[in-house]
Amino acid sequence: MIPLGTNRDPDARQGPARRLPVWPRLAALLLAGAAVWLWAGRPSLAGAEALETPPADAAPKRELTPAEAERERQWARQRERMVELGLRGRGIRNRRVLAALGKVARHEFVPTRVAHLAYADRALPIGHEQTISQPYIVALMTQAADPQPEHKVLEVGTGSGYQAAVLAELVAEVYTIELVPALAREATARLKRLGYGNVHARAGDGYLGWPKAAPFDAILVTCGADHVPRPLWEQLKPGGKLVIPVGPPGRMWLRVLSKGADGKERSRDLIPVRFVPLRRPGDRPEK
Ligand SMILES: C[S@@+](CC[C@H](N)C(=O)[O-])C[C@H]1O[C@@H](n2cnc3c(N)ncnc32)[C@H](O)[C@@H]1O
Repeated sequence: MIPLGTNRDPDARQGPARRLPVWPRLAALLLAGAAVWLWAGRPSLAGAEALETPPADAAPKRELTPAEAERERQWARQRERMVELGLRGRGIRNRRVLAALGKVARHEFVPTRVAHLAYADRALPIGHEQTISQPYIVALMTQAADPQPEHKVLEVGTGSGYQAAVLAELVAEVYTIELVPALAREATARLKRLGYGNVHARAGDGYLGWPKAAPFDAILVTCGADHVPRPLWEQLKPGGKLVIPVGPPGRMWLRVLSKGADGKERSRDLIPVRFVPLRRPGDRPEK
């Protein structure tokens, strides 16, 4: 500590400060201290205000009760187990994809009566004779689409909205189309409630893609087709990937089509899969 009225800098002794009385120097020190306090204090206050202001499109959050908070911790533990055993343990390697599936609350996307099975590696009914795909298949399809943060991606078959939410964690914009209007409505409301502001959802025939939003960096079709819809291939950017279950019912394979810079197609089949069929408007549901 420097005693008041002295100065340990020998050169300063030559200057006028040496002749100043004690009280003006004490006042100057206090003023300087106040200035430093104000300078250092203001940014942290502003930061606290900014943290408490929710983003414009997020639903206002209320505090969880202790029981609800404990339930959330249980879901998080189940998700962790699902990621480690069901995904990483079965060969899913993309770290961003693993993190996305570790974050999205799958229990929010299934009916309450099957919520206890939300983190089991299985497809579950979501009403209207449709299903939410099993987490391993969601992870495999997402990884195959090679999602990058700047990407715009199309999904055909919104269903519950779960795959769209996983994509929304990974890319800039997600467009998703669902044939069943009631499912489209429910998924849209759910995605909004959960704060997924970068998902654009609508009811319609996904076979035709979303021409106004095209071209896409990647397209995922989450219902099985007997051929690759031409409009989807055309709405894929050069360098993009189209992931789709293809084949006759009972003999479908998960196919990844890559569009080269020259527009040429390369394709590889990953694994045999079972999917609900891609239908066209007017088709009978149980086709
Ligand atoms: C396996 S579910 C999709 C699961 C969904 N991705 C999820 O995360 O819950 C397949 C969905 O594709 C829808 N679908 C079938 N044909 C369609 C079409 N032509 N256009 C859009 N959606 C279609 C079905 O109604 C069904 O909801």
